[in-house]
Amino acid sequence: MSEPTPVPLPTIGVIVVAAGSGTRLAQAEPKAFVEVAGRSILARSLESVFGMTGEGQVVVVAPEAWLDEASTIGRTVAAGAVDYLTVVAGGQTRQQSVAAGLAALSESVTTVLVHDAARALTPSALFDTVVATVQATGDGVIPGLAVADTIKRTAEGFALDTVDRSTLTAVQTPQGFPRAALDAAYASAAEDRTDDAALFADAGHHVRVVDGDALAFKITSPWDLRRAESLVQASVHGSVGAADDSGQRIILRTGIGIDVHAYDANSPLWLGGLYWPDEMGLAGHSDGDAIAHAICDALLSAAGLGDIGGRFGTDDPRFENAHGEVFVRATVLLVTGAGFDIQNVAVQLVGNTPRMAGRRVEIEQYLTETVGAPVSVSATTTDRLGFTGRGEGLTAIATALLSA
Ligand code: CTP
Ligand code: MG
Repeated sequence: MSEPTPVPLPTIGVIVVAAGSGTRLAQAEPKAFVEVAGRSILARSLESVFGMTGEGQVVVVAPEAWLDEASTIGRTVAAGAVDYLTVVAGGQTRQQSVAAGLAALSESVTTVLVHDAARALTPSALFDTVVATVQATGDGVIPGLAVADTIKRTAEGFALDTVDRSTLTAVQTPQGFPRAALDAAYASAAEDRTDDAALFADAGHHVRVVDGDALAFKITSPWDLRRAESLVQASVHGSVGAADDSGQRIILRTGIGIDVHAYDANSPLWLGGLYWPDEMGLAGHSDGDAIAHAICDALLSAAGLGDIGGRFGTDDPRFENAHGEVFVRATVLLVTGAGFDIQNVAVQLVGNTPRMAGRRVEIEQYLTETVGAPVSVSATTTDRLGFTGRGEGLTAIATALLSA
């Protein structure tokens, strides 16, 4: 007899409200399903939630018509913790969506956090802080940031007076509450409020402010979306680890590719997608472009997509006598189609000819444009040793770095 799967009885619940339409973002899909650098806003938010230290039930509140999509995203991010995931339909207003999430919490939950999916880059540590503060104090807890701008009261387009900004705090999510008190506050809510803390305070409870995080900003406008994209990209470029400063998990993958071709005095030389007049050519089924082929193998190996021989068979007429660039472009489409961003490619040519120095800038520019990411090219000889040293052929070795 097999062991029954233990049902999780978490004391923490996180409601991720993602049922808004994103009117101000003005994209084809609802805001939570819009992508930031290749991954949906909802996926990125859930990465942070599932990165919390304490285990908790995660309730995703999605638009009715997007429940399947939300479940797929939720299951992918939750992976082995899928039993902690619940997906329910939201309502017309944010408050109604939160209420739907509250109704889906399991009985065991005593501390509840409410989080806007639109705050896609919120660090996991902020969730941990809010949970710990609710549990230590029994109060409502909201992350806040001091207001940096001078704030003025205005009327009909004119400034009236300056508000003392030291008394102001810009409020973020996740907002945390003792579950029973928040349930009661929702049950007796008289009017629609823009955040849960206002409703909680209406019911007579204390709301404490903890330090927020600049990364917890809400993606509201297309400008915010672009800003989020550049923050994600900057963190990918600056990171070699499994998580960046914001707690987002980044997958980096390297790949390697090697190609060897014999010289053929009767063929023109095509190398790195360029024609090299007056240079000894290379033998091969296609044009023998060892640099292009090594780049393809490095990209495919990094993406786990096999190799050039397996992807572009010798019997495929599209690739008969095709130039190396054709293979590189087709490979880039495969790799990006599989969800990867190419970070860079490096190639080294090993052989006596051609001399790379004179055309290095040109070949690097050409390949960088073709690959859509920086490609660096270097060259060496082998001190007359081996087949390259004897001038029988050349080798190209490439590495590629991908991110997802
Ligand atoms: N939200 C929700 N249900 C609603 C309205 C909003 O779950 N009926 C969620 C949004 O998905 C978002 C969060 O509440 O994660 C904050 O709302 P906001 O930033 O205003 O998002 P939208 O309402 O989608 O955007 P807009 O106001 O521009 O339409
Ligand atoms: Mg809204």
